[in-house]
Amino acid sequence: MSKVLVVYCSMSGNTKAAAEAVADGARAAGAEVVVKDGFEAQPEDLLGCDAVALGSYDAFSYMGGGLKDFFDRAFYPTQGSVTDKPCAAFVTHGGGGKAIESVESIARTFKLKQVTDSVLVKGRPEGEAVDELEALGAALTAAAAG
Ligand SMILES: Cc1cc2nc3c(=O)[nH]c(=O)nc-3n(C[C@H](O)[C@H](O)[C@H](O)COP(=O)(O)O)c2cc1C
Repeated sequence: MSKVLVVYCSMSGNTKAAAEAVADGARAAGAEVVVKDGFEAQPEDLLGCDAVALGSYDAFSYMGGGLKDFFDRAFYPTQGSVTDKPCAAFVTHGGGGKAIESVESIARTFKLKQVTDSVLVKGRPEGEAVDELEALGAALTAAAAG
């Protein structure tokens, strides 16, 4: 069974709800899923998973502090060991969403391999947005299985 890690940061719950939808999609596709707040996630979580979903709220057109903190702490311990690991990104925002560029850029710096289009959600995910987030989790699971 593939292991999918969902790392996210959330101030007021929108991105947490998005992370849960991604996790639901991955579980439904057959993955074992671990969901962690960026401040709690450890480099070992990234080393030990088969695929990772990276989620953030938009904070002044950049990723939120929790996900940035995870990236900062994980970079050296994982450098060279996560090359081409499947990843996908999602952002919730208030009408902008430019933060997705920072998430995708750091994922490239880690040499993770983005396997599906990023999902942007305005506010709390509902309806079609939930479907898109679940599909992201499923696509990541498919990529993790090779
Ligand atoms: C400090 C701060 C800065 C923000 N900056 C932006 C921004 O630049 N662009 C944008 O579209 N939304 C911005 N937002 C709105 C949030 O990204 C949006 O409400 C998001 O869904 C919140 O997610 P959360 O509930 O997971 O914290 C900002 C919110 C906060 C708290």
